[in-house]
Amino acid sequence: MDISVTARPADTADVVFLVDLYRKLEAEMVAIHPMWPRADGLDEPVEESFLACLDDAGTRVYLGEIDGYPLGFILGRSRPLLAHEAGVRVAAIRMVFVEQDARGVGVGEVMRDTLLEDFRGTGHQLFDAHVLPGHRLAKNFFEAGGFAARSIVMHHSDLGDGGRRIRAHYRPTVES
Ligand SMILES: CC(C)(COP(=O)(O)OP(=O)(O)OC[C@H]1O[C@@H](n2cnc3c(N)ncnc32)[C@H](O)[C@@H]1OP(=O)(O)O)[C@@H](O)C(=O)NCCC(=O)NCCS
Repeated sequence: MDISVTARPADTADVVFLVDLYRKLEAEMVAIHPMWPRADGLDEPVEESFLACLDDAGTRVYLGEIDGYPLGFILGRSRPLLAHEAGVRVAAIRMVFVEQDARGVGVGEVMRDTLLEDFRGTGHQLFDAHVLPGHRLAKNFFEAGGFAARSIVMHHSDLGDGGRRIRAHYRPTVES
């Protein structure tokens, strides 16, 4: 049976879906590194952050859908390069997530490529994507889209709570 995999810009009526998907992404990312929700995710309350993103000219949020039902999201943000690169901007994929059961059928790919095309339409030719170290799934996904690593963030915590916690196979908790 054919399925329809599409991406469309999110709007304010989608915030309920976006928050639900974000919480699942957060659970998956925090299992890899505890700093993610503190440094790499969105400001709390995330509902307000999504509304601000939807209102921001330099930010794009897309939902990925199978047969019209939202099962993933992607968030990209444009930023300028350094002063001596006047006028040149880079579009960064800050986060991308697809529901576990919907993975491997192209939802991520359609969202990634749609977002890039959108940014290309506003003159962007440079793209970054944020991936946690050791996160092979995400690395493979971006490499499949033509990305290559250019930077890695080293982290130290005096509080002893910043350790790296890679779980090779994340399993979501079963909802009762
Ligand atoms: C990364 C993620 C968004 C990929 O979404 P997806 O819808 O499963 O990806 P797609 O089906 O579009 O796959 C696109 C390409 O990515 C690669 N890929 C996807 N899943 C893969 C897997 N399990 N193993 C290896 N490569 C994989 C493949 O190259 C694939 O191309 P192919 O189908 O031609 O082989 C999804 O796995 C996810 O949500 N992961 C958790 C969140 C996350 O890590 N986000 C990134 C950091 S914020």
